[in-house]
Amino acid sequence: MSTPKSSNQTAKPEVILASGREIYLRLAAYALKHWKYLIIAFVGLVIAGATVPLFAMYMRPLLDGTFMNKDPEIIKWAPFALLLIFFLRGVSGFMSSYSMEWIGRSVVKEIRSELFTRLLHLPVSFYDKNNSAQLVTRLIYHVEKVSEAATKGLKVLVQDSVTIIGSVGVMLYYSWKLTLIILVVAPIIAVLIAYVSRRFRKLSQQIQDQVGEVNQISNEAIHATREIRIFNGIDYETKRFETVNENNHQSYMKRVVTESLSMPLVQFLMAIALSIVVYVATHGDRLDDFTPGKFMAFMTAMIALLDPVKRLTNLSATLQGGIAAGDSIFSLLDETPEKDSGTEVIQDAKGVFEFKQVSFRYNSESDDVLTDISFSVKAGEKVALVGQSGSGKTSLLNLLPRFYDGWQGEISLDGLPLETIKLKNLREQFAYVGQDVTLFNDTIRNNIAYGTMRGISDEQLRLAAESAYALEFIEKLPQGFDTQVGENGTLLSGGQKQRIAIARAILSDAPILILDEATSALDTKSEKHIQNALETLVKNRTTFMIAHRLSTIEKADKILMMDAGKIIETGTHKELLAKDGAYASLYHLQFDND
Ligand SMILES: Nc1ncnc2c1ncn2[C@@H]1O[C@H](COP(=O)(O)OP(=O)(O)O)[C@@H](O)[C@H]1O
Ligand SMILES: [Mg+2]
Repeated sequence: MSTPKSSNQTAKPEVILASGREIYLRLAAYALKHWKYLIIAFVGLVIAGATVPLFAMYMRPLLDGTFMNKDPEIIKWAPFALLLIFFLRGVSGFMSSYSMEWIGRSVVKEIRSELFTRLLHLPVSFYDKNNSAQLVTRLIYHVEKVSEAATKGLKVLVQDSVTIIGSVGVMLYYSWKLTLIILVVAPIIAVLIAYVSRRFRKLSQQIQDQVGEVNQISNEAIHATREIRIFNGIDYETKRFETVNENNHQSYMKRVVTESLSMPLVQFLMAIALSIVVYVATHGDRLDDFTPGKFMAFMTAMIALLDPVKRLTNLSATLQGGIAAGDSIFSLLDETPEKDSGTEVIQDAKGVFEFKQVSFRYNSESDDVLTDISFSVKAGEKVALVGQSGSGKTSLLNLLPRFYDGWQGEISLDGLPLETIKLKNLREQFAYVGQDVTLFNDTIRNNIAYGTMRGISDEQLRLAAESAYALEFIEKLPQGFDTQVGENGTLLSGGQKQRIAIARAILSDAPILILDEATSALDTKSEKHIQNALETLVKNRTTFMIAHRLSTIEKADKILMMDAGKIIETGTHKELLAKDGAYASLYHLQFDND
């Protein structure tokens, strides 16, 4: 067991030890907050651990006092002593389990809420880089694992140590010579047992991985039914599945062999140890020292050692698992939250924007996605962004509510540089309707009246829904506004979701509006309707809109024609047509096609 680990440690000794200790200490800090429970747990564990050697000691008076010497005193209290030992064990066991679980569950709860809060405050760019399933795994599974490892670790460390020390003490007390013999033989047996259980663990891990593969392949096959049929993948998938299925079978059988061999093997090894004890105890001078009670007490203490020793040798594996999980949790907790150094507060933004030579890239290694962007927007103006997909329109709008930071140049709102405005306050100035609408797994009402709009009256809600042309379909639903939309609104069509998002924006009444292809999922008829709704909505509000259908853009006060991260033309629809440049040709292209 020690060889692979030590070779690991020689590779990077300081790093692993230092961070391992750091993680321990950080975890301990969570547990120490509940120090009262910790003390109760500790006391309980010590008592529970001590009852085992106590029980072994009890064997001597039980056998010698009652059966051999027929001592009336001992005969009287022997049954009660037994009850007392088990009563102590029960009470202390409950004490320690309850308080440890209390600590463990509290730590799980605390770490989870810290993680969740952190997730809400991480920059949007963090989510570009991290896979959502993994984040959820950390929040659910890793937290659980840390708590489990810590509780188990503490239990083994305290209770089993006490049991081991006590039992060895009992053995030494009754026969130190025999104890010494055992202490020589036992490690040899322990090494053999450790080898067997390590192999067992490895095979279990293998099986787990292979079950994962079986799972994954069958999952893909189920989800990609159409692709597999069309692209003639049936043979390939069958072969792929057969391989993992067969591997799984083989590993499982290997485990069965190890398992069924290891049990009798271990038992036989233990029988050897026991027979040595029996031999030594019953031969020569030793014979005189042992009474049946003494011998039984010795044997009981020895047998009681087995499990605690086994657990103690496995302790490092348990703790390593906990540390790895703790590491993944703490690295998430240590992610830097969104920068919010702003101090200025705007009451109701006028919506005057000024971009001065703004350049932006998503990360330092990649190229600029926006280059040298300069333009200004007056209060209440409608700005339309036009350009090929990938030209940087969404990226430009991402900067307004500071979804991303780190641009070059200057962006200001109402004369204040964006980064000087308090983040929460800045974002309150915006309403947003995007291309991919995200709905919460809640009622339509709560999706429209989301966040601070929760307490809104039914009348306002209806009005907003009506203006967004959402009322017509909401009213047709059996539960109306109280209809659950399902996970991410699966029960609604794309266009319906967008109309809900538009109703949400209408209700929020924010002074600045971002519409990023807000009507892309709508059919032409609904779009015409919504166009009217949007026209009411955008009145007196500074509005940024991205739309592919040029008809929605014609009325804009300012059109920014973008290409490869640059603004290549600016002006009104008429001006740009007169210019006969990129916008004009785009317009003709679409116009002639329609
Ligand atoms: N979150 C992101 N991380 C890294 N690169 C991105 C991200 N979002 C968009 N990009 C890149 O930025 C460029 C502009 O994209 P985008 O602003 O979405 O264009 P548009 O909205 O005009 O279609 C594209 O090359 C795209 O690959
Ligand atoms: Mg886009």
